[in-house]
Amino acid sequence: MTQETSEIQPKRVFIKTYGCQMNVYDSDRMADALAPHGYQPTQTMDDADLVVLNTCHIREKASEKVFSELGRLAELRAEGRNFLVGVAGCVAQAEGEEIARRAKGRVDMVFGPQSYHRLPDLIARAQAGEMVLETEFPTEDKFEHLPAANPKVNRSRGLTAFLTVQEGCDKFCSFCVVPYTRGAETSRPVEQVLAEARNLVEAGVRELTLLGQNVNAYHGLDARGRTAGLGELCARLAEIEGLARIRYTTSHPSDMTDELIEAHRTNDKLMPYLHLPVQSGSDAILKAMNRRHSRADYLRTIERIKAARPDMAMSGDFIVGFPGETDADFEATLSIVREVGYASAFTFKYSVRPGTPGADMDDQIPEDVKTERLAALNELVTAQMRGFGRSCVGRTLDVLLEKPGRLPGQLGGRSPYLQAVHLEAPERLIGTVQPVLIVGAGNNSIEGKIVTHAEPKGASVIESQAFAAIAAAERENRV
Ligand code: 5AD
Ligand code: SF4
Repeated sequence: MTQETSEIQPKRVFIKTYGCQMNVYDSDRMADALAPHGYQPTQTMDDADLVVLNTCHIREKASEKVFSELGRLAELRAEGRNFLVGVAGCVAQAEGEEIARRAKGRVDMVFGPQSYHRLPDLIARAQAGEMVLETEFPTEDKFEHLPAANPKVNRSRGLTAFLTVQEGCDKFCSFCVVPYTRGAETSRPVEQVLAEARNLVEAGVRELTLLGQNVNAYHGLDARGRTAGLGELCARLAEIEGLARIRYTTSHPSDMTDELIEAHRTNDKLMPYLHLPVQSGSDAILKAMNRRHSRADYLRTIERIKAARPDMAMSGDFIVGFPGETDADFEATLSIVREVGYASAFTFKYSVRPGTPGADMDDQIPEDVKTERLAALNELVTAQMRGFGRSCVGRTLDVLLEKPGRLPGQLGGRSPYLQAVHLEAPERLIGTVQPVLIVGAGNNSIEGKIVTHAEPKGASVIESQAFAAIAAAERENRV
């Protein structure tokens, strides 16, 4: 880490990321760990000296996909291309030995999510001819050892950023591999999170999404050695000037504490969009899934959340065809979706994960039944998602303007409810939050019209002082 970059031959790393946002975050951290050793990220395998597959284990046939990708890379090597190959992420963690054995000669390093800070060392070992396999859960804190991105790199990553605050999970839902691949639940200390957040905000980030497999179980130590919950962490983050928005994902219903719910009432920077998976609406299936909450518990939690933040938009994950799911159980899932009304939803057919209790359950559901149920559920949630978009037409929403849009003169941004918003606005407003009148709703995005706008701080031209004053007054009224 102390080596001078100037002494090092420039090299290129291509990191292919599969799966969830936690992997997106981890891929950036791997790039940060490699940067002081002369590795520049590249967007293609063609000029890479190192290819890392950052894998995801949540979907079916995950390891087969890894093997076929390794096959493709082996062909490139056979054609004379010279690069190292690493497999990282949850498939590496769960099936490392199997990959090392089956892909001998096609892979140089297999390493789990807890080893990313040691990547430069792993590369050195691989270059010395070792087949590296690192899938232990070490006791040292990788976050202490991962270098911060330099400000220039952070700036190039945009206005919104992920920040992992918690890893692992102790819930052991009977369908899920996460407790096995990511290990026991751990939280990063408050000050460590704040330091990373300040670094990102200084580099221009306006919106942070706090990540964790079970993020609302967050319980990090603060500077005085006390334990802080996620609500308190968000309060501390909200003190960072320049940070406009905070989100977090993914949450378990049982960990929606009073403290966290209260934070949605008091913390303006916490956005009114909550991903709170229920998985099923049937108590019998929730029990078989070891979800540790009932249908009624979930609905009560949403009531408490809506009491604190009436406009909270709900998002969820649903699994159809869990072992033993009857027509009546599935009906209960449809009915909970109707009762809650989701702004967004992610639906899955149950699929067996070896090593999880669900894999050994009797009454596995036939594929055609799963397919039918998934189609019915998708029809319902798609209608709700579109309905939510349409319900925003005529409302004025604060939109964080993030980037140039698809057409010239257009910008793309996000509403507080995480909807993609397109509107016509000058590029200099990128990075600001503006009140936008929603005038149309499509399938995946909504369309807006900027009514009045405040200029970004330090702008030399202010089109109309009066407009800026009106915009500021409007925003104050809404608070
Ligand atoms: N089968 C189907 N869906 C699953 N998920 C996790 N494990 C499985 C599985 N074995 C879904 C859950 C979880 C989301 C990230 O993926 O809905 O919330
Ligand atoms: Fe998996 Fe989420 Fe259940 Fe943890 S709470 S076991 S991550 S589904």
